[in-house]
Amino acid sequence: MVFDSLFGFFSNDLAIDLGTANTLIYKKGRGVVCNEPSVVAVEKGGFGGRRKVVAVGTEAKEMLGRTPESITAIRPMKDGVIADFEMTEEMLRVLIRKATRGRSLFRPRIIICVPHGITEVERRAVRESAESAGAREVFLIGEPMAAAIGAGLPVAEPLGNMILAIGGGTTEIGVISMKGIVYSESVRLGGDKMDEAVASYVRRRHNVMIGDRTAEQIKIAVGNAMPSADPEYVEAKGRDLVHGFPKSIVISESEVHEALTEPINQILEVVRRALEKCPPELSGDIVERGITMVGGGALLKNLDIRIAREVGIPTRVAEDPLSAVVVGSGQVLDRLEELREVVLR
Ligand SMILES: Nc1ncnc2c1ncn2[C@@H]1O[C@H](COP(=O)(O)OP(=O)(O)O)[C@@H](O)[C@H]1O
Ligand SMILES: [Mg+2]
Repeated sequence: MVFDSLFGFFSNDLAIDLGTANTLIYKKGRGVVCNEPSVVAVEKGGFGGRRKVVAVGTEAKEMLGRTPESITAIRPMKDGVIADFEMTEEMLRVLIRKATRGRSLFRPRIIICVPHGITEVERRAVRESAESAGAREVFLIGEPMAAAIGAGLPVAEPLGNMILAIGGGTTEIGVISMKGIVYSESVRLGGDKMDEAVASYVRRRHNVMIGDRTAEQIKIAVGNAMPSADPEYVEAKGRDLVHGFPKSIVISESEVHEALTEPINQILEVVRRALEKCPPELSGDIVERGITMVGGGALLKNLDIRIAREVGIPTRVAEDPLSAVVVGSGQVLDRLEELREVVLR
């Protein structure tokens, strides 16, 4: 016991939210110490064709779509799966080093939140990269569970809690009761698909080609699940497909609303399906207690109101939707005795 508390005092324990869009690291007593886009920039053609990492995180994201031929900016976690094992590992290693800097007296215990649907092989790869980055012990937790805990839902009670996590590559829904997942679904649909929908709309309607980053900026600026009474506009730059020149266009809230019809309908489908499939006692609880949303996609304007209206259940966005998952994972590590069951075996 004494040893335990001493250990806790010097503890270097970390919680990591390995997201398809953003990776966050939380340190006990310090809060979120790292919040970087899940992007790695690599230089090709090193010795024996080895790829050399030139940047990770924000710096690498700035390079997306702007690199010279010898450098590529990669999103190793694209579409909710680990698309590039080696680079996921490199990214984790760099970010863990950064977060543990200067305090290497004890090797950290690390809990990592992964998409609920990733395969056994992918889980092993994540675990191994954390180990090779210096972890003493590694725990994995599924996204809906971590999100629910981080959003402050009473996951241990015999009550239906519904959590909807909308990330970059995936949307995950979970119904949790008594520390267990009663129902969950993970679909490869999220912020990235919304960005693609915006880009394809702009190409069709304005004859202008825009990059992924620009599409995301438009979505964040004027994206919505229900246009407001006093619509806003945003200016964006792309390439005119007719003349091939750079061109500036103005896009309205209602245009982006139209562009996002498909991905929003798909999210509504996921919610409806979960309500249909979950046991009646629990759906009764959910009707009463509502749906809680986390993830960057939850920030899409009026999405909460739209879901509430379409399914007839109160829907709210968690207090800090972008860090709920990492904070929830951190809480599991802090209360491991009490929450052991929620860790993935
Ligand atoms: N205000 C906003 N409106 C709509 N989408 C947003 C907003 N802020 C962030 N996003 C989107 O949220 C996604 C990232 O969410 P995040 O929860 O970090 O994803 P992941 O868990 O997959 O890493 C991105 O697609 C981003 O464009
Ligand atoms: Mg996430």
